[in-house]
Amino acid sequence: MSQAINFALDSRLALCADFVRDGAKVADIGTDHAYLPVWLCRIGKCPSAVAADINPDPLQRGIETIEHYGMGNKITARLSNGLQNISSDEADDIVIAGMGGELIASIIQDCNFAKDSTKHFILQPMTRSEMLIKWLCENGYEILKRDCCVAAKKCYTVLLVKYSGEIITRDESYYYLAKLNPKTNKTHHLFVKSQINRLLKQAKGDVRFDVLAKQLEESINYD
Ligand SMILES: C[S@@+](CC[C@H](N)C(=O)[O-])C[C@H]1O[C@@H](n2cnc3c(N)ncnc32)[C@H](O)[C@@H]1O
Repeated sequence: MSQAINFALDSRLALCADFVRDGAKVADIGTDHAYLPVWLCRIGKCPSAVAADINPDPLQRGIETIEHYGMGNKITARLSNGLQNISSDEADDIVIAGMGGELIASIIQDCNFAKDSTKHFILQPMTRSEMLIKWLCENGYEILKRDCCVAAKKCYTVLLVKYSGEIITRDESYYYLAKLNPKTNKTHHLFVKSQINRLLKQAKGDVRFDVLAKQLEESINYD
């Protein structure tokens, strides 16, 4: 018998869940405890899911969550490096959360169906979001939506992305600010502020980072 859910998604995973389309088959890459796919299938937003991880121990944690909530008929646990062991017909929406921006970019690059523009990617980089955004822009991916949230006193960003084939070269500051409204949205403001602080630490004499930090400062100052 399936159990009532006795965990809540933190606001980071909740924001990822929010970006998943109603009725989408979902693949959660780097699932660890499989909270996200269990939640999505349990509340009926998704009919099925693949919970994938490259490492056996986190995958085992995921299997335990899936079994505990009696979701084995809807969710498949799979050992997979990125999307390598997942086929296109298993996933409409792909969530890659809780990893560095560069690793997320390499997982998309290695996915043989990433350029199918019907697929949505929901990306939550823990670090280097600007590098991920630069890579997306240079490789024909369009950012459809972006938001930020605070979880455990840290600010995170989540991107909704799909392949469009359009390659656009942007100003460096765009990679920090894409689709954010730091003048009007408090969490966006907080996120950009944390990026500025990181840039200032990085700067240490490198004038390019100082210039960039100043540009971002201007973008968050209220008129
Ligand atoms: C910090 S956990 C994130 C768990 C969950 N997605 C979340 O955001 O709370 C990162 C997980 O990604 C997995 N991982 C790292 N590289 C991966 C790859 N190339 N393919 C699949 N999973 C990977 C790790 O084993 C780990 O379980």
